[in-house]
Amino acid sequence: MMTAIILDLDGVICDTAHFHFLAWERLAAEYGYALTQENNEKLKGVSRVDSLKFILSLANKSLSEADFQADLIRKNEWYLELVQHMGPKDVLPGVPAFFEEVASRRIPLALGSASKNANMVLTRVGLIDAFDAIVDAGQITHGKPHPETFLTAADMLGFPPSQCLVFEDSAAGVQAALAGNMKAVGIGLQSDLPGAYIHLNNLGEFDFDSLEN
Ligand code: BG6
Ligand code: MG
Repeated sequence: MMTAIILDLDGVICDTAHFHFLAWERLAAEYGYALTQENNEKLKGVSRVDSLKFILSLANKSLSEADFQADLIRKNEWYLELVQHMGPKDVLPGVPAFFEEVASRRIPLALGSASKNANMVLTRVGLIDAFDAIVDAGQITHGKPHPETFLTAADMLGFPPSQCLVFEDSAAGVQAALAGNMKAVGIGLQSDLPGAYIHLNNLGEFDFDSLEN
């Protein structure tokens, strides 16, 4: 049976999950709240707007609509400062070998990212042309854990969800894959990513021969 692959971006292809964390941590500090790594597991895969709502609830703070929008912009500006020096070498371990294997096996490949910066980051790391389809936050109405991102990607590839394998580092993303009737490979710990059928440290650990079974 043919399989298509859908990759998340931040924390799967490159270490931008950490940059998102640093930018949110800086904003949370302004609200008097020290954002923890544990909080961050709940922020991974979550849209910019929903992330700010979550942080405000943690900090027990409310903002006017104007300040809310202004803080979304400031967080993104800090994030953009952090990613501006990224280049092709700034991919996570195993990523080049994974993309070579996908290409040589001619496996249909899509991106399914919650980020509005996905195209820019993919361009920076030199992988924008490696995808048959790209779905980012600009194309969908419902963010992860809703399955719309991955269902849209499957549709663009022309594959039924049951034949798509999603690689995710976020709990919200694993939930989105399962809600879309797709299998998920967790990039991270089993305790952080319940529901994924296997857990790897990085894409380089994936056994492509397992796709035959
Ligand atoms: C996800 C990240 O990929 O994109 C989240 O895991 C981030 O941490 C979300 O908040 C939205 O990203 P952006 O670039 O649109 O602010
Ligand atoms: Mg991610």
